[in-house]
Amino acid sequence: MSPRGSFPDTPEFTGLNAPIGEEYELDGLGVEGRIPAEVAGTFFRAIPDPAFPPRVEDGAAVLSGDGMVSALRFDGGEVSFAIRYVQTERHRAEVAAGRALFGKYRNPFTDAPEAVGLDRTVANTTPVWHAGRLLLSKEDGRPYRVDPHTLATLGRWDFAGRLRSATVTAHVRTDPQSGELFFFGYEADGLASTKVAYCIADRQGDLVREQWFDAPYCAMMHDFCITQNYALFPVYPTTCDLARLEAGGDHWVHELARDSFLGVMPRYGSTDELRWFRGPKGVSCYHMLNAFEDAEGRIHLDQCLANVNAFPFIQRASGLSVAPGETGARLARWTVDLRERSAVVAETTIGPPGDLPMIPAASQGRPYTHGWLLTMNPAMQGPPVAGGPVGVMFNTLLRVDLTGKPPQPLALPPGHCLSEPVHVPSSHSPHEGWLLTIVDRQTGPADFNHALWILDAGNLPAGPIARVHIPRRLRPQVHGWWVSAAELAAARHREK
Ligand SMILES: [Fe+2]
Repeated sequence: MSPRGSFPDTPEFTGLNAPIGEEYELDGLGVEGRIPAEVAGTFFRAIPDPAFPPRVEDGAAVLSGDGMVSALRFDGGEVSFAIRYVQTERHRAEVAAGRALFGKYRNPFTDAPEAVGLDRTVANTTPVWHAGRLLLSKEDGRPYRVDPHTLATLGRWDFAGRLRSATVTAHVRTDPQSGELFFFGYEADGLASTKVAYCIADRQGDLVREQWFDAPYCAMMHDFCITQNYALFPVYPTTCDLARLEAGGDHWVHELARDSFLGVMPRYGSTDELRWFRGPKGVSCYHMLNAFEDAEGRIHLDQCLANVNAFPFIQRASGLSVAPGETGARLARWTVDLRERSAVVAETTIGPPGDLPMIPAASQGRPYTHGWLLTMNPAMQGPPVAGGPVGVMFNTLLRVDLTGKPPQPLALPPGHCLSEPVHVPSSHSPHEGWLLTIVDRQTGPADFNHALWILDAGNLPAGPIARVHIPRRLRPQVHGWWVSAAELAAARHREK
C-alpha cells in the first residue's frame, strides 16, 4: 500500500517495478574497489515512477510513469546520489489534484476533464545533454529543462521559442566533431499524424534548422541515426490510428503484414531529397547502435532488430503473443547504396540479440570497431528478474566487436539484472574507457539491493573494478547520459 493510494497488484506496479516516488540526496556512498581518476562527472538517469495509481486500466501504463531525474556524482573518489521528480505540467496538475488525471498512454480521449489542454508528457525517457543544458525527454512531447547541479526543473524547452514541432524524441545524435545536435519529432503536429520534424541545433544549442516531411504511415519512430553526410529515419510498422484513439483504444498496434522503411537524406540537405528504401515486413526496433558510410559510399545502419514488437502489451493490443525467445531478435545491419536503383535494404546479421546499445561518443556516425549492448544469458539457470516494460530484465552485458572478434560477455549471477550503461571515455588510447551501470540483486519477492558497477569497457569478463552501494530502493532506469566534470564546470561558468 502506498501512502499515495493503492496501486494495482500487476507486474507494472510490483516487484522491481513497485512505485517509490521519494526525492532525496545521499552523500558519501560506500565504495568497494577503486574509482578510476577519469571517472569524474555525473551519470544522469531517467526513471519513470508513477506518483499516483492509474485512473484507467492501461496495458501500456508502464510507459507513463512520472519522470524522475537521478544523478550519481563522482568527485575525487567520492560518490553522491540525488533523485527528484521532473516538475512537468502533468505531474504538477496531478499533485494539486491528489490523484491521476491523465488516462491511457498517449490517448487524451481517456483523460479526466481537468486534464484537457494540459501537456501530457512525463519526460521519463532520456536525460539529454547538449550545449550545457540538461533536457529530460519523452517522444510524445517537448523536453523539460532541468538544472544539472540541483535537478530543479526549469520549465519546458522549445529552443528559445524557435521549435515548431510539438514533439522531440528521446534519442538524439551528437556529431563528435561539429558538436551539433541532430534530432527529430514524429506526430509533430498532433495525434496519429504522419508529420516528422527533422532538426539541427548548433554547438551553442541554437536551433538552426527544422524541416518537416511525411513518413509512409504514422509509426513509432523511437530512434534514428546520422552518418557524416546523411540522416537516416527507420520506420517500423508499430502504428497509430486516430479512430482507435477516439474509441478509447491503445496508441500502438504492431502490423506484421506491413513493410518497414528506411528514409535517407543528406543531413544538411532538403527533406525533398529524402529517399525511402523498403525493408522487411513486420520487423521492429527500438534502438540503433550506429550508422556509417564505408569507403565505397554505401550506408550502413546497425540496429537491435526483431520480427515483432517486443513489448507484451503492444503484442496483446495487436492480437499477437510471441515469447521473448521467439522474436527472431538479432543485431542487424541494413545497407543501402544511393547510386543504385534498388529501393530495398540489404540485411545482414552482425551480432546476437539484445537492446539498449551503447557506442563511444567519438564513434557516432563513423566507421567503428565495437559497442556494447544488454542481452540475456542463454545458459542462465532459473528465471530472469521480472521488471521493466518488457517484463523481464537483462542479465548480461556484451561487448560486440565489428572487426570479426567474438562477443565478450559479462554474465551476471542468477537473481541479478542490469540497466543500460553509460560509457566514460579514457584519454589513454587504446584503453576503451569504462562502463557504469546499475546492477539490481533480488533478495526476496519484493526485496532488492542496488549497486553501481564500474567496468573496464574493454575487459568485461574481469567484472567490476569498483562497486558503489546505494542503500535505498531504486526503480529501473530507461536511459542515461554521462556528463564529464569539465562539461559541468563549463556549463556552470556559462550560467554566470
Ligand atoms: Fe529508448
